Amino acid sequence: MGETREDAVVDLRLDRAHSARIYDWFLGGRTNFAADREAGEQVLRVFPAAGDAARMNRAFMHRAVSHLAREGLTQFLDIGTGIPTSPNLHEIVQGITPAARVVYTDNDPIVLAHAAALLRGRPEGRTTYVQADATVPDSILRAPELLATLDLDRPVALTLNAVLHFVPDDGRDRAHALVERLKAALPSGSALVVTHGTSDFSPPVTDRITDIYERAGTPLQLRSEAEFRRFFDGWELVEPGVTLAHRWRPGETGGAGRPTAAEAICYAAIAVKP
Ligand SMILES: C[S@@+](CC[C@H](N)C(=O)[O-])C[C@H]1O[C@@H](n2cnc3c(N)ncnc32)[C@H](O)[C@@H]1O
Repeated sequence: MGETREDAVVDLRLDRAHSARIYDWFLGGRTNFAADREAGEQVLRVFPAAGDAARMNRAFMHRAVSHLAREGLTQFLDIGTGIPTSPNLHEIVQGITPAARVVYTDNDPIVLAHAAALLRGRPEGRTTYVQADATVPDSILRAPELLATLDLDRPVALTLNAVLHFVPDDGRDRAHALVERLKAALPSGSALVVTHGTSDFSPPVTDRITDIYERAGTPLQLRSEAEFRRFFDGWELVEPGVTLAHRWRPGETGGAGRPTAAEAICYAAIAVKP
């Protein structure tokens, strides 16, 4: 008898560390396993501020999407969503605009397994989940669930937070190519939000982090400020432009204290399509 979709057993490869689950562990979540915690502990030994960096990245996301919802954006496409961590993007934007629509995407089956928490949106709005690989952007743009939720003729806020550094170029400029494809599919008034790990500030530390991820089976490519800026080519950066995540309009939800540059391992920016 053929295997039905319901019967299909997805191999979550729990014996190997995975970026979503290592990140969940840094954030104090419970969806992580021995291999993830082992990799996370190795990272903490060389970069004790990893948990702070993850929280700063989340706090930036909160400020960024709040800003865009207040600016009137009502459609959000979040790629590389991660394991649900409340408040999730839809809770933030639907708290401002209850009718906001959100499409979440990730390629990790464990995120799919927990996606129910991402789908409890406001009745006025809509949230949906697409299991897809960001390196095949058309599989996201053409997904029936996306097309039933977002109107791609109206502005969309595209968020790619802490995901593009998991797309190594392998000599083919893959990360920039996928972002350009997504940008091209969105109309004027759309916004692009990106956070991305960098080795600009502490290369000896970040080289070791890259090594740990590589050995754990999750290739990582940190990028320079110039490489980060290229993601926004042709779009207009929103003030304060390219900055470290915790310095992007620090307010009540972030930017408190004085993290060192090493703690602030992550660039962030928002741009709008002219
Ligand atoms: C560090 S987490 C970031 C989660 C969330 N965006 C945030 O910033 O809090 C990275 C996520 O990107 C996902 N990811 C990595 N490579 C991906 C790809 N090629 N396509 C889709 N998702 C990917 C991982 O599964 C993981 O959930």
